[in-house]
Amino acid sequence: MNIDYAEKIPNNVDLASNKTLQRALEHWQPEFLQWWDDMGPEGTSRTEIYLRTAVSVDPKGWAHFDYVRMPEYRWGIFLAPGEAERKVNFGAHKGEPAWQEVPGEYRSNLRRLIVTQGDTEPASVEQQRHLGLTCPSLYDLRNLFQVNVEEGRHLWAMVYLLQAYFGRDGREEAEALLERRSGDPDNPRILGAFNEPTPDWLSFFMFTYFTDRDGKYQLCSLAESGFDPLARTCRFMLTEEAHHMFVGESGISRVIQRTCEVMTTHKIDDPAKIRSLGAIDLPTIQRYLNFHFSVTMDLFGADVSSNAATFYSTGLKGRFDETKIEDDHLLTTASYPVLEVRDGILASVQAPALNALNEKLRDDYIRDAASGVERWNKVIEKAGVAFRLRVPHKAFHRRIGPLAAANIDPEGNVVSTEQWTANVERWLPSDTDRAFVASLMGRVVERGKFANWIAPPARGINNQAADFEYVRFN
Ligand SMILES: [Fe+2]
Ligand SMILES: [Fe+2]
Repeated sequence: MNIDYAEKIPNNVDLASNKTLQRALEHWQPEFLQWWDDMGPEGTSRTEIYLRTAVSVDPKGWAHFDYVRMPEYRWGIFLAPGEAERKVNFGAHKGEPAWQEVPGEYRSNLRRLIVTQGDTEPASVEQQRHLGLTCPSLYDLRNLFQVNVEEGRHLWAMVYLLQAYFGRDGREEAEALLERRSGDPDNPRILGAFNEPTPDWLSFFMFTYFTDRDGKYQLCSLAESGFDPLARTCRFMLTEEAHHMFVGESGISRVIQRTCEVMTTHKIDDPAKIRSLGAIDLPTIQRYLNFHFSVTMDLFGADVSSNAATFYSTGLKGRFDETKIEDDHLLTTASYPVLEVRDGILASVQAPALNALNEKLRDDYIRDAASGVERWNKVIEKAGVAFRLRVPHKAFHRRIGPLAAANIDPEGNVVSTEQWTANVERWLPSDTDRAFVASLMGRVVERGKFANWIAPPARGINNQAADFEYVRFN
């Protein structure tokens, strides 16, 4: 399963033996590079970055670190090894051999799943393209670029599936993935959260913590797919995704640590005073958290969804940890609780489990996301500061599904429009908050220096020191 870097397109799928596919991907490659040039990290074509590159899909030691100019990064096609005699593990085809080709009757649904996942990858690169100009350190700049090149590779992963298994319409979808643009009103990215701007580094860390984690849950569900090439592709993507969430979790943790240092050194807890010393007050961090959490909640889709039921019953998209769950893996008779607004309060009602699969995945995600927030609270506790961050109620600030029709506060109370308007600035970042955070975003690129609003990391990347020269400007 070693990756062939002698090829024009590095791969471990023996691309050389399939000339038609190789030609199609070699035709797409310059278009991808053009997109990278137009929409990738701004003004970086000559910058050398200490990046990791996948050299094998073996879980141990797949990474190689060296200085790379991003346009020369070796984007390629890497699948996790196949499992001998793998089966479809859920839905109506449970027990049948996993599909090595697209099952004809599910073709359009499968293509839709792949395109929707694929669309998020270039979208996040577009959202983050200006951040390099305001990086808080070389270490953080390197991490941003690592995330960016890997999101680019995730696009390759989905485009490979489209080109290899879907013929002409797959090629058309591959082109369209390079044509949509995050936030473009005429040709936006498919999912809402991927059209929101990522204007500052607090947003970036929140995005990589919360929204890349949605990516993890979607990829885990697709890694259960009965369509084996999709499962194998997603399994390898997950190994890269872990670093993105690390960047988010450790990034926020360092912001919190710095804020707490300012609070305890100066014995202050007034947000205005904390801000005047150039740190981000904890209530502002909470409001950013509320925003990114709620926008990510919507990515899981409607609480009750017939599409989700179809994707599952037809064996295309499983549950998180499908094969570890002990039940019939058919779900035709099971039920699952979802929320509804009834008589002015949120009520839990039972829905058919098949239709509630988005809600189930959302709940799995929340448990995981909330545990990291508790780790942030440990940092606050350790500093002796009396404040706790928390994830808002899952119904807060929803824009998708029936809950979007109600105003729901972070505690899960249904509130009137007047109450919402009166309090929204306590719950979500205001223009003033965003302007304050933006005002901190100066560019720090001196070796070993960190912006005032963020603590240095406990350790560097690949056992390097925090003051290592992670990026070289040429
Ligand atoms: Fe990704
Ligand atoms: Fe990611």
